[in-house]
Amino acid sequence: MSLPRVSRVGLFAALCALSVGAVADTDPITLRVNVGEPGKPISADLMGVFFEDLNHAGDGGLYAELIQNRSFEFRATEQPTWNNLSFWTVTPLGGAKGSMRVEQAWPLHPKNPNYATLEVQEPAGEGVKMLNAGFQDGISVQSGEHYNLAFFTRQLYVGKRWDARKAEGALPLVVRLETPNGEVLAETKFGIADREWQRLTATFTPSRSEPQARLVFLATALGGLAFDEVSLFPQKTFRGRPNGLRADLAQTIADLKPRFLRFPGGCIVHGNGLGNMYRWQDTVGPIEQRRQQANLWGYHQTVGLGYFEFFQFAEDIGAKPLPVVPAGVCCQNSDHQGGTGQRGLPLESMEDYIQEVLDLIEYANGPATSKWGAVRAAAGHPEPFNLKYLGVGNEDHITFLFQKRFEMIYDAVKAKHPEITVIGTVGPFHSGDDFDQGWKIANEFSIPIVDEHYYVSPQWFWDNLNRYDTYDRTKSKVYLGEYAAHDEKRRTTLRAALAEAAHLTSLERNADVVLMASYAPLLGREGMTNWNPNLIYFNGTGGVFPTVSYEVQKLFGHHGGDRYLSSSLSADSQRLAISSVRDTASGEVILKVVNGGDQAKALKIQLDGANRLASKAELIVLSGQPDDTNDYSAGHLIKPKTSSIGVAASFAYTAPANSLSIVRIKKGK
Ligand code: AHR
Repeated sequence: MSLPRVSRVGLFAALCALSVGAVADTDPITLRVNVGEPGKPISADLMGVFFEDLNHAGDGGLYAELIQNRSFEFRATEQPTWNNLSFWTVTPLGGAKGSMRVEQAWPLHPKNPNYATLEVQEPAGEGVKMLNAGFQDGISVQSGEHYNLAFFTRQLYVGKRWDARKAEGALPLVVRLETPNGEVLAETKFGIADREWQRLTATFTPSRSEPQARLVFLATALGGLAFDEVSLFPQKTFRGRPNGLRADLAQTIADLKPRFLRFPGGCIVHGNGLGNMYRWQDTVGPIEQRRQQANLWGYHQTVGLGYFEFFQFAEDIGAKPLPVVPAGVCCQNSDHQGGTGQRGLPLESMEDYIQEVLDLIEYANGPATSKWGAVRAAAGHPEPFNLKYLGVGNEDHITFLFQKRFEMIYDAVKAKHPEITVIGTVGPFHSGDDFDQGWKIANEFSIPIVDEHYYVSPQWFWDNLNRYDTYDRTKSKVYLGEYAAHDEKRRTTLRAALAEAAHLTSLERNADVVLMASYAPLLGREGMTNWNPNLIYFNGTGGVFPTVSYEVQKLFGHHGGDRYLSSSLSADSQRLAISSVRDTASGEVILKVVNGGDQAKALKIQLDGANRLASKAELIVLSGQPDDTNDYSAGHLIKPKTSSIGVAASFAYTAPANSLSIVRIKKGK
């Protein structure tokens, strides 16, 4: 990017944040806030969330499915030790003989080619047992809760395999939830006579809680059965949605009050090679008809959590949906090529690809009578999802190959859907060649918003608090789509969280340029992470562990305000960042003070132009030691504490060492 001209607004804001002369930490610094002015608008969509299925954030995470490899599509191309029967075992019991294999002759759907067969060659005892133990540490079930079992099955033959054509009748099948020792927690029985695929369902209510339950199928009679899309869901999903989300995790995300939800990533958008790009049409419709694929983070995407579920989740939490589609190129790191693996869809296929992007807009916003609106309606949502933003490309290497395809997509969307705001990409880093080239394209095409990414040290954030003060207000706006402070060993410390808080004060100050921001990544399953830090950790037994950074995101999400009030500090102080906003609806003034230093900082706060303010304000403080991390096993948690503080047109406040303080001042009577 060529150096932007410093606008008047930017210069003013920059001056507010700059040094005036250093003073000792013990001398009070005067913070003057102009509460008499209307203030500068803050983007209503500033605080959002970024979702990507890495760290098992989706499969084995937010997506509430409890069965791993439910449709026998796991492959060695995903992990060298995997095959179609991974996470399933077969055990003949009490002298029975039988086997399980994977077949493709008569699939449930062409996009879901593999299914399992279970054959009993010699019936005896309890029969032949086919078992799935879920993700990593078993299937956690709770007493008193209900679990929905669903699976596709058909009879292959009755009796001996090659004598079977004449034999008829139902094959008995027992399905159970069991403990690792074989204790039965819940059981149901079926008789399978149909030779066509049929979907069978049952509800399990386990007799007791068990963190490591297994789903067991017992075939007892001579014959063969086929199985596919074997699913077990807690009945209590978020908002009770079928094929829904884990309620505790979804609620933790909703509690952030995100204004937008970005999905499905991240790098899985552009994918590992052209065949691995995330194509939205493969992820809608009945789950057994979706095209699953390898996740470039080294596991399998069922896409059970697909575009419909993302849109539904966004709506459920009051967030605007922000889908990101590939820009017609795959990831530059595809095929282990370390930056040179970008390939583009053949230009002759771009017309079809562009139609696919336009179809997405119709899927989200078109009437239920339109081709793709009807697909949405068939999934249970006749009303539109009100799509406003569309990301095109993620962190792509900005090459001619990319530019050509981006331009084709961008022009088509602009022409057909001027109501959609396209978000472009400016590479993986806060500066450098891709960043400069990305901004060059943004300026050339007047792209409304571009997506910046940076994962940097806490110190970088403190050193760059003025980054956006000098951005040209007449150029493209910014969506800071991925950011996080990476402390040593990539721990989730208070030090990192406060650096992020300081940066957020600078985003509020510049919310006329930075319209949106999302911390990344969002979720990490303990013991199955590809990436650290994440905003929220979780496990498979109901544990949800928000980090200190989560607390910061939540505080900014809840105390954002809609008008930025100008302010100034009488003296510079290392690691001090402030922001003053107004919430027009309530008339409240909200002050945020981030003290990233090891000494408390005395402030004299002067509210210029104050007219009728309450004499008591709410004070929320997040503080601790810089190395503190939210350690749930030790019960050591950094959480905000709320109290009250006396306020007046001029009042004193001492910001504790290593803290974020929020003072919420109501209107007086
Ligand atoms: O957030 C994790 C990864 O970081 C994203 O997939 C990618 O866009 C970035 O490099």
